[in-house]
Amino acid sequence: LLNRKPIIAIDGPAGAGKSTVTRRVAQELGLMYLDTGAMYRAITWLVLNSNINLEDEAAIAELVSQVNLELTPKGIKINGEDVTEAIRTLQVTAHVSAISAMESVRQALVKQQQSYGQKGGIVAEGRDIGTHVFPNAELKIFLTASVQERARRRLQDLIESGQGDITVNQLEQDIQLRDYRDSHRKFAPLQKATDAIEIITDGLTIEDVTAKIITLYREVVK
Ligand code: DC
Repeated sequence: LLNRKPIIAIDGPAGAGKSTVTRRVAQELGLMYLDTGAMYRAITWLVLNSNINLEDEAAIAELVSQVNLELTPKGIKINGEDVTEAIRTLQVTAHVSAISAMESVRQALVKQQQSYGQKGGIVAEGRDIGTHVFPNAELKIFLTASVQERARRRLQDLIESGQGDITVNQLEQDIQLRDYRDSHRKFAPLQKATDAIEIITDGLTIEDVTAKIITLYREVVK
C-alpha cells in the first residue's frame, strides 16, 4: 500500500492536447497540476536570455544547479521572474528539445518533479512521467494524435496568441522533427510506458478525453 495520494501520469507528443486535458482533469478531481514541459521551457528561456552558448552543456549544468524554479497556481517563475507567457514563443519551442535532452538538465528537473509528487495528489504531464518520474503512478495515459491534427491545433493556438504567421506544412515538419528528437534522445526518451493506456485524440473533444480519463481514474482509484 502506498503511503501517498494517487498520481496520474499523462505523457505524449506535442499537440496531442495534453495541457488542456491535464488541467481539466486536475481541476475536476481536485488534484494538483504539474506541467513538466513548462519547467524545461523555463530553463530554455533562461539559457536564451543569458550569455551562455546553447551547446555549452557544462555552463548550462552550472546554471541549472543554481536555478530557482517555482510553479505558481497560474504559471511559472524562474529566478523570481514570471515567464508563464515568455516560455510559449516559437523561439523557446525551437530550442527546448536540445536543452531538455541534456542529462544534467533532466536530472535536476526530475528531482524537483519527484519532490512535488512525494505526497501524491497530482496529475503530471510530460514525456517521461510514466516511465521515469512517477513509474508507480496509479494511472498512466499516453495521449497522442496524428501529425496533421496536431499541426492544425498548434496553428489555432498560435493564431490566438498572435503568432499565426506560419503555414500548417511548416508546423507539421516542426512537429515531426520534435517528435523524432524527443523519442530518440539518449536520456528518458518519449515512450509509451508498457502499462499506459493510449488515447488517440483525433476527432475527440477536450470534454471527451477528460471524461475518459476521469472514468479510468475512478476504476483504478476507489
Ligand atoms: O509539452 P511541451 O511542449 O511544453 O514540452 C516542451 C519540451 O520539453 C518538449 O520538446 C519535450 C520536453 N519535455 C521533456 O523532455 N520531458 C518532459 N517531461 C516534458 C517536456
